[in-house]
Amino acid sequence: MKLRKKLFSSLAVATCLSLNAQNTNNFVVQANKVGAEIQPTMYGLFFEDINFGADGGLYAELVKNRSFEFPQNFMGWNIFGNVKLMDDGPFKNNPHYVRLGNSGHREKHTGVENEGFFGIGIKQGEKYRFTVWARGENQKIGVELIKNNLSENHQALVKGSLNIDSKEWKKYELVLEAPVTEAKSHLRIFLESKGDVDLEHISLFPVETWKGHENGLRKDLVQALYDIHPGVFRFPGGCIVEGTDAETVYNWKKTVGPVEDRPLNENRWHYTFKYRFFPDYFQTCGLGFYEYFLLSEEIGAEPLPILNCGLICQYQNDPESQIKMEDLDPFIQDALDLIEFANGNVNTKWGKLRADMGHPAPFNLKFVGIGNEQWGSMYPERLKPFLAAINKKYPNIKVVGSSGPQSEGKDFDYLWPEMKKLKADLVDEHFYRPESWFLAQGNRYDNYDRKGPKVFAGEYACHGKDKKYNHFNASLLEAAFMTGLERNADIVHMATYAPLFAHVEGWQWRPDLIWFDNLNSVRTCSYYVQQLYSTNKGTNVIPLTMNKKPVSGQPGQNGLFASAVVDKVKSEYIIKVINTSDTAQPVSINIEGAGKKFNLSNGEMITYSTTELNSDNTLENPSLILPKTEKISKEGKSFEADIAPKTFVIYKFKK
Ligand code: AHR
Repeated sequence: MKLRKKLFSSLAVATCLSLNAQNTNNFVVQANKVGAEIQPTMYGLFFEDINFGADGGLYAELVKNRSFEFPQNFMGWNIFGNVKLMDDGPFKNNPHYVRLGNSGHREKHTGVENEGFFGIGIKQGEKYRFTVWARGENQKIGVELIKNNLSENHQALVKGSLNIDSKEWKKYELVLEAPVTEAKSHLRIFLESKGDVDLEHISLFPVETWKGHENGLRKDLVQALYDIHPGVFRFPGGCIVEGTDAETVYNWKKTVGPVEDRPLNENRWHYTFKYRFFPDYFQTCGLGFYEYFLLSEEIGAEPLPILNCGLICQYQNDPESQIKMEDLDPFIQDALDLIEFANGNVNTKWGKLRADMGHPAPFNLKFVGIGNEQWGSMYPERLKPFLAAINKKYPNIKVVGSSGPQSEGKDFDYLWPEMKKLKADLVDEHFYRPESWFLAQGNRYDNYDRKGPKVFAGEYACHGKDKKYNHFNASLLEAAFMTGLERNADIVHMATYAPLFAHVEGWQWRPDLIWFDNLNSVRTCSYYVQQLYSTNKGTNVIPLTMNKKPVSGQPGQNGLFASAVVDKVKSEYIIKVINTSDTAQPVSINIEGAGKKFNLSNGEMITYSTTELNSDNTLENPSLILPKTEKISKEGKSFEADIAPKTFVIYKFKK
């Protein structure tokens, strides 16, 4: 019986294989039909402070609660000896500080010790800049990075001292070199003299931040962003923009100017997931709007700030408790002032602040988003006056509106026509959807209205049912879906995966594009898919069809998805093919209209594939699943290939 079963199943495989061989999928690429331009903004990044993405993540500050402004002022700190909390400090918006006083006994010590974000990660041989605002006469403090492990004889890994020599508040600095690598060290500051010493804004940064900026960003994380070559950078959220309540609404004006005086905000993700909430999740806004603009510039992306439209998070608040229309003016003014901050000349109020912060040249802002995931009539009602004011004062700025939190359905169907009526320039769509959705949506944009606003696929990721974690198959389906974005580049102008970052010990939401701990980071399979698209986006769409139809995974297309572009600058044709099926797919690709001289002799093939469909790269094994590039050479203008199951292939041929 067993043998018969085995025979039958191998026969079935053989039949299937020979059927496949006969049913070659015939792709035709029309190289001379150069279509829509692919926008430089097409593939980008969306950053939000979720999963400890900013404080504790991208923002390289290593001290948690550096200004003692958390509602429990000593959260993140251990204090010992004679430590007093004071509230008349030098920074108006962050008035708390600590006073270290004499312990009253020669064997007792006074000091404070910070636990960082899940510990303080330090790397052997790297330097760390400790800074503190202090006052005191002829006083001395000790500063140590310690091993948070009491079993060691001596906890201090490295120690320095600072003489505090002024009655007035003054900034002091000390650079410590880490003698070892330690993911979870602590920072300890203690009195070495008789006291009193006042300490405020106690900070520790790696000296080696991205581009060496003080108040800078984690180098490995920005490098990962840079390596995607993003065309657009959306920030700072997401729901962050909306806030949990009126007090926590994100206000860009509170995130600029001296870092010491930027008021603390409670992170909107602080409470969200009851099973995984972090009561110590606050925003120092040390990574604020100036830093976001600078980062966009340095990674070569168009900045796309999202501003509150006058609605607090609609998931968390009833319509009755919303911001009223009569209170909308300050929100509109904030939007206008932001454009001035980014682009205004140095004689304007906000342009001057930008210059004072170190960037006299404008940031050349072109886009602004009003609202995140909004729904119902309250949204267009609010967007309308924003559009009127922005269009009037800054007619060249493109405004992005929202289509709500769903990829289809009642709210979506209501908002899209509203966005058209209001003439939003782009509409932001969000879809965290299961595998079946991604498989079915390859043709999503084929029939969109070409005369309406452009599309910004602003937040998306494949979330497998019961598989809400990063895995290769999800990234493959994202790649498949993205052929439809590319083919419709005439109306799809931007697309950004979400969320971007997650700390392995501090995440609320997954999957995410990049994971990190206190020392290292890992690029997921979804990251590599984004990178493959972004670095092979070409300049113009060219038609690719099978039986005269786009290859979008529709019934009868054997689970295949494909798109083609020409890169006029690099002078090459780029063909992307994704086989989402479980069997190898024979494909013939015929490039028509490329000219007499064209042949396929000078080509390159990038393959992204694995048999471990449920796996992904990890911090322990960051290179588990990487794309592979090889040279290929074919004769003539057409070729045949077997696309392996569950595989993403890119072919590139020089014109
Ligand atoms: O990306 C995570 C969240 O998903 C965003 O904050 C929000 O816009 C969406 O609901």
